[in-house]
Amino acid sequence: MKEKQLSSIREYAMQLFGDDATGHDYFHMERVARMAKQIAEAEKANPFICEAAGWLHDVGDQKLFSDPNKAIENMRLFLTSILLTDKEIVLIERIIKAVSFSKGEVPDQLEGKIVQDSDRLDAIGAIGIARTFAYGGANNQLIHHPEHTATSIQHFFDKLLKLKQLMNTNTAKEIAEERHQFTEIYLKQFFREWN
Ligand code: ADP
Ligand code: NI
Repeated sequence: MKEKQLSSIREYAMQLFGDDATGHDYFHMERVARMAKQIAEAEKANPFICEAAGWLHDVGDQKLFSDPNKAIENMRLFLTSILLTDKEIVLIERIIKAVSFSKGEVPDQLEGKIVQDSDRLDAIGAIGIARTFAYGGANNQLIHHPEHTATSIQHFFDKLLKLKQLMNTNTAKEIAEERHQFTEIYLKQFFREWN
């Protein structure tokens, strides 16, 4: 039952996100879902809720959906149609609303904290760096400019380097360590070549 529901949720994410080129493609959802499940097992949280919310965590993002409320409403109907319980649906919705970095919220349930960590882990390390430049390119932003701050390199200082400190769970903190170090090494090399 749960496996079948997760496979329907995966197909739903595929339809919604497909090949978005701003760093929110289907594979971002897949990485976040897989990471959330892995952390849930280590932290003894509910792996089903974490994986499901991982697949769906960017539903209703204002950058991606012209009508965020409608997107959430459609998701609720979909989850009802595949027989999730009301309790599960309410929890998933609450998690999705709380995970975003820009809102600066810490979700109150462990499952929300785990999905937030998983989304943030995907923003650092080799993949996070690739996503940063993909986002920058899709938004006509320069790679770097010594005097301007609306650049992709600036985003490392505004967000990426801060994420390690913001991880909620110990499991995510451990995974973040290596990715953070790699991000720092990358930046060091970038400025060596620049200068
Ligand atoms: P999510 O909600 O999935 O964390 P965001 O919408 O905040 O994602 O960002 C998507 C990706 O684009 C992330 O990897 C993020 O670091 C990157 N990103 C967001 N804002 C910028 C920016 N101003 N410049 C470069 N990259 C950005
Ligand atoms: Ni995301």
